[in-house]
Amino acid sequence: MYRIIGLNAKPFLIIQVLTKLNLSGQGLKGFVDYATTAIAKTYPFKIEQMKILIIGGGNMGLTYAQSFLRSHITDKKNMMLLERSPEKAAELALKDIGTVYGNPEDCIKKADIVIFAVKPQDAPMLLESLKEHVDSQQVFLSIMAGIKIETIANLLGATKIIRAMPNLPAQIGMGMTAFTSSDEVTRIELVMVQNLISTTGKAIYVEKESSIDAATAISGSGPAYVFYFMKSMIQAANQMGFSNSEAELLVSQTFRGAVDLYSKSNFDCDQWIQRVASKGGTTEAALKSYTDNKVHEDIIEAAQAALKRAIELGKQV
Ligand SMILES: NC(=O)c1ccc[n+]([C@@H]2O[C@H](COP(=O)([O-])OP(=O)(O)OC[C@H]3O[C@@H](n4cnc5c(N)ncnc54)[C@H](OP(=O)(O)O)[C@@H]3O)[C@@H](O)[C@H]2O)c1
Repeated sequence: MYRIIGLNAKPFLIIQVLTKLNLSGQGLKGFVDYATTAIAKTYPFKIEQMKILIIGGGNMGLTYAQSFLRSHITDKKNMMLLERSPEKAAELALKDIGTVYGNPEDCIKKADIVIFAVKPQDAPMLLESLKEHVDSQQVFLSIMAGIKIETIANLLGATKIIRAMPNLPAQIGMGMTAFTSSDEVTRIELVMVQNLISTTGKAIYVEKESSIDAATAISGSGPAYVFYFMKSMIQAANQMGFSNSEAELLVSQTFRGAVDLYSKSNFDCDQWIQRVASKGGTTEAALKSYTDNKVHEDIIEAAQAALKRAIELGKQV
């Protein structure tokens, strides 16, 4: 087992800066993959030798476990899952994705990285129950919405804490995660956890923890906003005479195509809108209706409402 502290920051910073610039395209991705692999080779640090414990084998816990295994970043012998209900533990064991435990005392001390994937309301009891079993070198990754690093540190009595906000498309490797960390997490530990998170999609590091609440309002809740918009368009298509399956295909393929166009080009949304909307045409009529009905302002206000709620929830635990 390797635990490296205080490594040279430069390799990590290159990745961090590139990630923060949020440049897209295979070139950058290839470079980041190359750089992270190079770091892993340069330092005597073997992620595949780290023991990973996921606490909570529900939607997200399972998604993480399956993504890690699918990407071969680790294997079953280094994966542990902890579930409190014996029935769920038995169900998880059938999935054959690692060793399943029902009692934290049997697994927590073995773990190098512990991932908290329980509901926020279950966090206080869980963290306090682990307090006497954790050690100062273990790295903790929390994906629990709204629970601050300081709260985790106080309840758990640990210092190396990474807080992340993933979203649901993580289930198919298309997730978007924002993450940040306490000062005690070393660069190499951060790269290692970023590698784990990146098995579920893309990830950006944010300096300020408040940006995690903002990411919750944009990318965390975002898939639901997209489904809301899609639902309205499906309904419009139904009203125009398309069957449900036809309407779903028309709408979902339109979303997919538009997002792919956007991500494969350097044009911004306005430039793409201009390419679709011709003067006096159909798109312009629809866009005028959006403008008249202040849809743009409503979308921003909705995201602000989500941010406000994320901040409120964070204060409750
Ligand atoms: N789902 C998303 O899209 C999403 C996105 C971003 C972040 N998150 C965050 O991810 C976390 C997990 O969400 P989820 O949707 O995966 O929840 P979930 O499906 O309810 O899974 C949580 C699991 O943890 C178990 N659990 C609770 N307390 C435990 C304990 N003390 N020890 C062991 N297992 C315990 C629960 O068992 P019981 O059923 O017995 O309670 C449940 O099986 C949440 O904090 C959420 O904020 C979720």
